[in-house]
Amino acid sequence: MKKILVINGPNLNLIGIREPKVYGRLKFEEYFNELKSKFQDFELEFYQSNVEGELIDKLHQVGFDYEGIVFNAGAYAHTSVAIGDAIAAIESPVIEVHISNVYAREEYRHVSMMAKNCKGVISGFGLNSYELAIRAIIG
Ligand code: DQA
Repeated sequence: MKKILVINGPNLNLIGIREPKVYGRLKFEEYFNELKSKFQDFELEFYQSNVEGELIDKLHQVGFDYEGIVFNAGAYAHTSVAIGDAIAAIESPVIEVHISNVYAREEYRHVSMMAKNCKGVISGFGLNSYELAIRAIIG
């Protein structure tokens, strides 16, 4: 079965608890179970880390075999040249995802260090952003 990895970066382990007005009240694990039941023809995996190097290690690990990677790098999307480089280094397509509409927020969130190395960017559709990104991978 073809594999797709969903990666959440820093602070996204607190989805459902953290700033619910921005990120909603649903825990990511619950949403991810819904996603898995919607895409049963694919093996959907999930990884979360608050550590930049661990996110990069994970990209290296899966980035030559997987069908695609849905990546919410949180604030690292705006700051991490190293994550941008890791995405350029691998072969699997990466979709940059944000739950909130980063362009409707502070100016420092309008910048992405990863976008140019991604297949595309989906931002502002709540948790549904992840489903849209999976659909973009599977076509
Ligand atoms: C986020 C947007 C980022 O600006 C922020 O730092 C996050 C979450 C989002 O999903 O909307 O941690 O990536």
